[in-house]
Amino acid sequence: MKLLHLDSSILGGNSASRQLSAAIAGQLAEATPGLEAVYRDLAADPLSHLSGEHFAARQGAVPESPAMQKDIAASQTVLDEFLAADIVVIGAPMYNFGIPSQLKAWIDRVAVAGKTFRYTATGPEGLAGNKRVIIAISRGGFYGVGMPAAALEHVESYLRGVFGFLGVTDLEIVVAEGLGIGPDQRDKAMQGALQAVTKLRVPAQLRAA
Ligand SMILES: Cc1cc2nc3c(=O)[nH]c(=O)nc-3n(C[C@H](O)[C@H](O)[C@H](O)COP(=O)(O)O)c2cc1C
Repeated sequence: MKLLHLDSSILGGNSASRQLSAAIAGQLAEATPGLEAVYRDLAADPLSHLSGEHFAARQGAVPESPAMQKDIAASQTVLDEFLAADIVVIGAPMYNFGIPSQLKAWIDRVAVAGKTFRYTATGPEGLAGNKRVIIAISRGGFYGVGMPAAALEHVESYLRGVFGFLGVTDLEIVVAEGLGIGPDQRDKAMQGALQAVTKLRVPAQLRAA
């Protein structure tokens, strides 16, 4: 079984989403002998923005510059990692109401027509439905149903939309929120989220299901 673990927070050791994604990945590793884990830090080792030249190469154009050849190789690596993974764990903080641009750059590399989705006569079809995706979201404020800022929640809704588009139906989300309110709320939210992590099913339960 293969695990792909991604982080995208820019806050290093102070990151809440990194703490949560590490707890999820650690729990899966403990419960799964022989789990093959690949870790990718999208903040420390960022992918570049998708460019016109890159997109043209996807349509068959031959990339000329060594820089573009390197960019295409990097893209192929992250796409292969995603396609190979049985489980994907993602640390996804909220920055300016959405996901970090580093995580968006990764999505731009794995949402590839003909590889992870395709267009059919009856509409788009996801091709990456054979995986379980677990997302750890951290956010400074409150965005739950009924909260004044609920309409500004573009992390969970966006990621649910993207992975749904790619065919993923096995999607779980752990949220720690209100982290910017103060230390007490931060502790409470992190304890609650870490508790929610312990409730995630482990692969043995998945196989028995
Ligand atoms: C650049 C930046 C932008 C942020 N924007 C928002 C925001 O729009 N809404 C919010 O609730 N919190 C916002 N926050 C607070 C973060 O969501 C919060 O600190 C969270 O813990 C970030 O996750 P991380 O610790 O894993 O980086 C922002 C933080 C940073 C650093």
